[in-house]
Amino acid sequence: MIDRATVDRIIDAADIVDVVSDFVTLKKRGQNYLGLCPFHNDRRPSFNVSRTKGIYKCFSCGKGGGPINFIMEHEQMSYVEALRYLAKKYHIEIEERELTDEERAAQDIRESLLIINEFAMQFFEDQLANSQEGQEIGMAYFKERGFTAESIKKFHLGYSPENRSALYDAAIKKGYNRQLLFDVGLCIDDGRGGGYDRFRGRVMFPVFNIAGKVIAFGGRTLHNDKAKYVNSPESVIYKKSNELYGLFQAKRAISKEEKCYIVEGYADVISMHQSGFENVIASSGTALTEGHVHKIHRFTENVTELFDGDEAGIHAALRGVDMLLKEGLNIKILLLPQGEDPDSFARSHASHEVKSYIDEHETDFITFKTEMLLKDTARDPIARAKAITDIVHSIALIPEQIARSIYAKECSKRFEIEERVVMAEINKQIAKNKEKAYKERQSKKNSESEDTNHQPDTETDTVINLPPSQIEARQSGGKSKVESISLYRYEEDLMRYVAKYGMCFLCETTMADNSRQPTTVVEYIYNELSADGIELITPVFKRMLNIAMEQVHPFYEALEDKRVVLNQEMNQALKEGIAEIDRKGVDSVEMAEKMEEELKSRIALKMNQREVEFRIKYLEQRLCSERDDQVREKAVNLVVELHQLSRIHSQFGAVIPTEYDRLMTLVPNAILNLKNAIANRRVMEIREQLAHADTNQANELLEEMQQLNEVRKKLAKLTGERVINTI
Ligand code: CTP
Ligand code: MN
Repeated sequence: MIDRATVDRIIDAADIVDVVSDFVTLKKRGQNYLGLCPFHNDRRPSFNVSRTKGIYKCFSCGKGGGPINFIMEHEQMSYVEALRYLAKKYHIEIEERELTDEERAAQDIRESLLIINEFAMQFFEDQLANSQEGQEIGMAYFKERGFTAESIKKFHLGYSPENRSALYDAAIKKGYNRQLLFDVGLCIDDGRGGGYDRFRGRVMFPVFNIAGKVIAFGGRTLHNDKAKYVNSPESVIYKKSNELYGLFQAKRAISKEEKCYIVEGYADVISMHQSGFENVIASSGTALTEGHVHKIHRFTENVTELFDGDEAGIHAALRGVDMLLKEGLNIKILLLPQGEDPDSFARSHASHEVKSYIDEHETDFITFKTEMLLKDTARDPIARAKAITDIVHSIALIPEQIARSIYAKECSKRFEIEERVVMAEINKQIAKNKEKAYKERQSKKNSESEDTNHQPDTETDTVINLPPSQIEARQSGGKSKVESISLYRYEEDLMRYVAKYGMCFLCETTMADNSRQPTTVVEYIYNELSADGIELITPVFKRMLNIAMEQVHPFYEALEDKRVVLNQEMNQALKEGIAEIDRKGVDSVEMAEKMEEELKSRIALKMNQREVEFRIKYLEQRLCSERDDQVREKAVNLVVELHQLSRIHSQFGAVIPTEYDRLMTLVPNAILNLKNAIANRRVMEIREQLAHADTNQANELLEEMQQLNEVRKKLAKLTGERVINTI
């Protein structure tokens, strides 16, 4: 468990430019830093890093966040792992204490599951090395397969005993949580308060994530079991379609060789390593997914698929091609001689033979596809036409124009078709793809805004002091015009002020005891909304507002500390300034007094600006480092919007947005606009309900309509005026 105070210290210490620079080369561009985005195939630098805001944002792929998110995303770590990483980098001590059973259960489940897997891996390794059964069965099998002791160590191979509950018993004895053993898939609940092992009498292949944590296991049977391999089920820490076996052990070699070999299975990876190829990973028998390809692309652009020469291998290779092309990777394909897989081939040939076989037999995807598609039907015109279409579709997926035209040339040569005809076909296909992608985006957007605008779920719906009967009436309505009145943009507008200026001073509020309380933007917004019983309907905004409110109290504490520092600085500056005046010597006492006055107000202004900067950064940084992915993404987007780039650079070097000066008008207006939209929406709703209402209901509805119209009139009058009258 890492406590909030430590998390805050880490957030404050982490310098985004420094953190990112460990992985990405950044160049200074004006206020910000610019580099190639590590999260997508960036050809022109679109990855922006702002030191003052403490965030990064890619204007091309949209990824963004604070230092914690960067490490999570880049190093594939969990939130807690990323915090540890940064704590280490900045020499911040994390107090880790022994956890009680309840705390262990309550703490980050992901972390606990990783710990359990680590324990299981050691258990299996220990069984292999030190038990009689492990030696006689597991080790004998590995020896027979030709796996060396070095490989066994490097891939942490192990053995799971035949005993029904060997691991379960050992884990329980060590105090591991029973439920978590089930959750991670190592053991299975027997329904009688005990459990048994998923993997029994198998050799074990742990699967690591990029950061080197064990996220799953594959267990190979040593009998004539129906299931040759049993794998860990998906869990919080294991999404099969995102993981590549061996990537952790291969990543360095992949970067160095600028090439990656993809094979099918665990044994293939290990045998290839033993043959001296360390840049090898396996898709573990599943089709390559976008997630896989994206991971590979972080290390290289060059990929060779190595597959068995049998039917299944060919199909697997064909399936992978389009996925790889789409990501802009250069792919080669290599089919091994019939009946061989990379494992058997690597074992039966010397390493230089493997190397030269690969170099000689690697083909580009057009050659491969042509050969496969026309294998037995080279002369059949229909088969040819089909093959051409298939290849054109693949070429159209390639994002790079130059690469596309090279392949087009190759295709035209091979099929003896004019190049411009091929090119025209490709362009047609590209247009189609674009149209399709556009439509998909559009429908996604629509469903998103539908989600956010009209959640049937009452918890997330707006409730504006309605009597229960009417709430019911509202909920029973199906799809209607009402849904077209989107509150989203009003809520977004409001939340922009929260994300950007949440902790800034807005006004004083008169309390019940007539005392006056300084009120921040976020408090003002929260109070105004709750006073009218309004809750935001967009779930992500609702959560963001709550998170921001939770920060208010710690913020005031931090501000007190900050003010002490600022005061000291102010006194120091004052002392130095006065000394300077004295040193220069002035003609009259009056003159000296005037200069001192000027000095004082200049320093006060500067300190004030420093405080404003502190307030802005405080919440910005926290929201943009927020654990909740959606909140964080939204926050980053709100904070980096283009039109806020109009910041003034004061003579003191402080950077404060001009918008800041107008908050006292802008924030109340944004609230009024939202209230107005809610009222309009309700009026629309009532109109629809009136159509089906009986007399009683109609009277009620009409009455409400009248009230609403009053409210709307008032709101209309207020909009555009200054409405803060509490100050
Ligand atoms: N696989 C799996 N689950 C299965 C079958 C296969 O996860 N039930 C994955 C494994 O990663 C396996 C790969 O698919 O390594 C390829 O399967 P297969 O060719 O059947 O196994 P081999 O790797 O050839 O296994 P071995 O050489 O040990 O027989
Ligand atoms: Mn095999």
